[in-house]
Amino acid sequence: MNGTVDVLVREVGPRDGLQIIDQIVPTAQKIAWLDAEAAAGVSEIEVCSFVPPKIIPQFADATAVVAHALSIPALTVAALIPNLKGAERGIASHVHKLNFVMSVSESHNRSNVRRTREESLADFTRIAELIRDTEPSRRPRLAAGLSTALGCTLEGPIDEAEVIRYAVRLAESGADEIVVADTVGYADPARVRRVFAGVIGAVKPLPVWAHFHDTRGLGLANVLAALDVGVRRFDSSLAGLGGCPYAPGATGNIVTEDLAFMLESMGLRTGIDLERLIEARKIIGSVLQDVPLYGGIAKAGLPKGFKPASGSHQRASA
Ligand code: COA
Ligand code: ZN
Repeated sequence: MNGTVDVLVREVGPRDGLQIIDQIVPTAQKIAWLDAEAAAGVSEIEVCSFVPPKIIPQFADATAVVAHALSIPALTVAALIPNLKGAERGIASHVHKLNFVMSVSESHNRSNVRRTREESLADFTRIAELIRDTEPSRRPRLAAGLSTALGCTLEGPIDEAEVIRYAVRLAESGADEIVVADTVGYADPARVRRVFAGVIGAVKPLPVWAHFHDTRGLGLANVLAALDVGVRRFDSSLAGLGGCPYAPGATGNIVTEDLAFMLESMGLRTGIDLERLIEARKIIGSVLQDVPLYGGIAKAGLPKGFKPASGSHQRASA
């Protein structure tokens, strides 16, 4: 993070948002979406998944989307990977960051990536080795995501100590960053404080991201709780699209516009121009006409006299 932002907001809609939607969004529209968000000051976007096209056809154009994203100045381009093959494809695409995903819930891990958690950890170790063997100028950062870390629709409550144990194992196996995800929106602010404080303390000095879904309406309350214990990196999705196709009952991520509005109102700079961000919704609205778009600030408008912490029309690069 550079000195011009206090909190990093990563857009994950092009990945988390689109993976659950059957309608294939044309590559040109995905690219227009990335361009619009980057122009609004979003400095990091998870642009796709490197998964088999027969499992998620939406990402059959992953390489083309990454190629365009890499041409956008100052944008950190991230992609989700579920396994070693995904890492190989990601490295070949020159993506800046690989977001490996495994679940704390054994059942969800089996359902989502068809592996036990131990098999996923073994995969992760091989991925970290592959990156170490990659020529330094082409080496992506390696983030490790823990899905269903705050609850699972298949298993119910998740043991908080397990989350910390897996975070530590991923850190020891070569993660540069840890992402803790509430995949199905089970978290509450008290649990968020405990889990994130525990993970941050256990993996120091690695950066820890929070990835919240707003399924039960506690998304921004959970952001506040995570801020309280020191989290400064959040995933979110334009218009609140999102959800895991292998997690029953999963719905959208917290809304990027509302998250940025809350942070900017609180005096925390995100580098995001809210008016331009709200404008970017039109792109997905015009393509995904049958998909509901969420978010309070886009519907209600910015408050009269609103002064964002970042200053209006400021473009920050992070
Ligand atoms: N990208 C492209 N192709 C891949 C791949 C990847 N990341 N991983 C595996 N494959 C190919 C293999 O080469 C193999 O091809 P072949 O049949 O031509 O030989 C085939 O897919 C099956 O490989 P296998 O290792 O047996 O995979 P699998 O069928 O056990 O599936 C995953 C495992 C991880 C690839 C799959 O479960 C998956 O993509 N899960 C992610 C789902 C997701 O995106 N969830 C939401 C995000 S959290
Ligand atoms: Zn998610």
